[in-house]
Amino acid sequence: MRLTINKIQDMKKAGERITMLTAYDYSTAKLIDEAGVNLILVGDSLGMVMLGYETTVPVTIEEMLHHTKAVVRGTKNALITGDMPFMTYQVTAEEALRNAGRFMQEAGCQAIKLEGGATIAETVRKIVNAGIPVMGHIGLTPQSINQLGGHRVQGKTTDTARRLLGDALALQQAGAFAVVLELVPMQLAKLITSRLNIPTIGIGAGPYCDGEVQVIHDMLGWFTDFVPKHTKQYARLSDTIQTAVATYVSEVKSGAFPTDANTSSMDEKLLEEL
Ligand code: KIV
Repeated sequence: MRLTINKIQDMKKAGERITMLTAYDYSTAKLIDEAGVNLILVGDSLGMVMLGYETTVPVTIEEMLHHTKAVVRGTKNALITGDMPFMTYQVTAEEALRNAGRFMQEAGCQAIKLEGGATIAETVRKIVNAGIPVMGHIGLTPQSINQLGGHRVQGKTTDTARRLLGDALALQQAGAFAVVLELVPMQLAKLITSRLNIPTIGIGAGPYCDGEVQVIHDMLGWFTDFVPKHTKQYARLSDTIQTAVATYVSEVKSGAFPTDANTSSMDEKLLEEL
């Protein structure tokens, strides 16, 4: 049985921490679902770690839907949240609702995520009123990277911290079921978490959020372009993959692989007839 947004909210009330990871394909999603992660985010970070874009800005809704469908097919337990990419929800609330509907109808996920606070609250309300669960995302919002001027910690002054608290409350008021806090000081994340009834999911926001999200390629040591400060590498898949591939290349070249054990044989008589 898939986790529901009600269960996620009950976890906050019960003080049970919430786990979220990204996934972008069937095989990875199946493994992490079986390993017990609560929520899977098909993040637009796929633009960087899967498609090789420099930022998340070029990611399209067709790319997101394609990957979200694969993740849904690979999972049975986790709540799947599809990330609405840049320019699919900012222009009008009507367009946002139509695009959010595509994630639910075409990709089959159970919730969507979008970036922004008070300025996007009316759009969130409209989507929620149509029966689509919405996860908010404030702090560093990577789709606004050109406006923010880089991957910087947000909310370090009284004014910006107050604005972020207001954004979180506005999202809650609009009906969001949870909110991601990305790259905010841990004290601010703690304050926001204590003021909200809905769960906060941190990334680079310290230990006091109700849950944590990481990009799977970062925590598995799979993406080699850079390692964010907020990441803990639980494995070094890049080393494992490169060592395995180098061994394969050398064994195929030397003739050590494949062997008789990796193929099939036919009747000698048939071979003679041939
Ligand atoms: O796209 C993504 O992976 C995200 C997470 C970092 C929260 O938005």
